[in-house]
Amino acid sequence: MSFRTVIEPFRIHSVQAIREITPQEREAALARVGYNLFGLHADEVLIDLLTDSGTGAMSSRQWAAMLDADESYAGSRSFYRFQEVVQDITGLKEVIPTHQGRAAERILFSVMVKAGQVVPSNTHFDTTRANIEHGDAEARDLLIPEGRIPSQKHPFKGNMDVAALEATIETAGRAHVPLVMVTVTNNSGGGQPVSLANLRAVRAVCDRYGIPLFLDACRFAENAYFIKLREEGYADRTPKEIAREMFSLADGCTMSAKKDGMANIGGFLAMNDPALARDCRNLLILTEGFPTYGGMAGYDLEAVATGLEEVLDEQYLRYRLRSTAYLAEKAEAAGVPTVQPPGGHAVYLDAKTLLPHIPPAQYPAQALAIELYRVGGVRGVEIGSVMFGKPNPDGSEVPAAMELVRLAVPRRTYTQSHIDYVGEVIAEVARRKEEIRGLKMVEQAPWLRHFTARFRELDAKSR
Ligand code: F0G
Repeated sequence: MSFRTVIEPFRIHSVQAIREITPQEREAALARVGYNLFGLHADEVLIDLLTDSGTGAMSSRQWAAMLDADESYAGSRSFYRFQEVVQDITGLKEVIPTHQGRAAERILFSVMVKAGQVVPSNTHFDTTRANIEHGDAEARDLLIPEGRIPSQKHPFKGNMDVAALEATIETAGRAHVPLVMVTVTNNSGGGQPVSLANLRAVRAVCDRYGIPLFLDACRFAENAYFIKLREEGYADRTPKEIAREMFSLADGCTMSAKKDGMANIGGFLAMNDPALARDCRNLLILTEGFPTYGGMAGYDLEAVATGLEEVLDEQYLRYRLRSTAYLAEKAEAAGVPTVQPPGGHAVYLDAKTLLPHIPPAQYPAQALAIELYRVGGVRGVEIGSVMFGKPNPDGSEVPAAMELVRLAVPRRTYTQSHIDYVGEVIAEVARRKEEIRGLKMVEQAPWLRHFTARFRELDAKSR
C-alpha cells in the first residue's frame, strides 16, 4: 500500500519560534530598507525563502558528530573522515576543504584560468562568473535553448548545448579553453537537472580536445534523483550510484556544502590531478588555512561529512523534490506562472507574465517579491533586471532575459503547512496583481547592485 501524501521523513527534535509581525510593521520595514528585501532584519520575515544555502536544519546525527569533532590544526581525524566521505561519493582522489563554494572557485580559477581565456558552462552561477571575470577571462553560458523559456517543459532543462560547446572551442582555440564547467543542478536556470547522457556528450567533446571537465556540484544529490526519476535506465539505481556515475565523468568539482552538504557552512574542491591539487593547496594555505581544515572548524568538517551521507538517502530526496513541486503546484493553481518543470531547490515565479502592466524598466519581479513580503511576510529573491539589467550610458537599461522571483526552500526546515501558507500568500498577491506598482531605482552600487540598491514605489499615475 502506498499513500499519496509524501511525508517529511523526519520528526522535529528541536524548534525555533517564528513570529508574525503586523502589516504596519512590514510596511514600515519596507520603507526603511528602501524596498530591498536584503536589508530586512531576518526577524522581520515570517517564512524566509531567500536562499537554500546554509539555511537548512541539521540532523541530530550531525550535531552529535560535531560534538565529537577533532579540532587539531594539522591532521585532524575529522578531516580524514571528511576526505573519506567525499572520495567515496565522488571517486576523486584529491580533496581540499574550503569555507564555502566561492572559495573553491576562486582557488581553482586562479590556478587554471588566465586572462583572455573562455570558460564554458551550461550556466555559471553568479559567483563562478564573478570569479572568472575577476581574472579578466570570459564566463560563457551554453545552455540548451529550451532552458531559456520558462514555460517550456523538458526533463533536463539544465543540459549544455554540446554543438555550441564544440563551436566555442573551435572558435576560441583549444589553448584558450582551460576547462569546461557544468553546474548541477543549474541554479540560475531554475534549479534544472543535467542528464547523464548530456554529461557523457560533454565529456566526449572535452576528451577530443584534451580539456578538463569540472562539475559545480552544489546540488549533485538533487540532480542524481532527477536522473533516477527521468532518465531511461536509471529507475532502479540508487542516488549514490548515480552520483558516482556523474562524478566519474568529471576531472574535478567545486562544492558548496551549504546546499547538498546539508551544513550551515563549508565546501570543497576535489580533483584527480595531483599537480593541480598541489598548486591549489599552496593557494589554500595563503588565504583559507592548512589543507586539513581549509577555513572550516573540525566540527564543520564533521557536519558536512554526515550531511553528505544523509543527502543521498532516497526517502529524503523523494520528499525534497516533491515538496518543491508541491509549492510550484500551489502557485500555478493560484494563476501565477512558474518556470516549468519545477527545479529541485526552488520555485521560480514568472513576474513578466503575471504583471504585464509593469515594464522591465520598472522591475516587475522586484515588485512581486515586495508584494509577497507585504501581504504575508514571505521573503524570496528577485532574479531579473535588478540583478542582471545592464545600465546604458544614457541612463536607460538593457533588461534581463527573464523577470523571476525565486522562492528557495531551505532543507528540512519548513513543514507542509508552512508551504500551504506560502501558497495562500501567493494566491492573495495574484488576486491583487492589478494594484501592484512598479519601482524606480533611486540608489545603486557599481556592481552586484541587487544587494544594496534602494527603490521608490511608483504611483499609478506615473506608469
Ligand atoms: N554555485 C552554485 C550553483 C550556487 O548556487 C552557489 C551559491 C555557489 C556556487 C557559491 O557557493 O555561496 O557557498 O560560496 N548559491 C547561493 C544561492 C548563494 O542562494 O543560490 P557559496
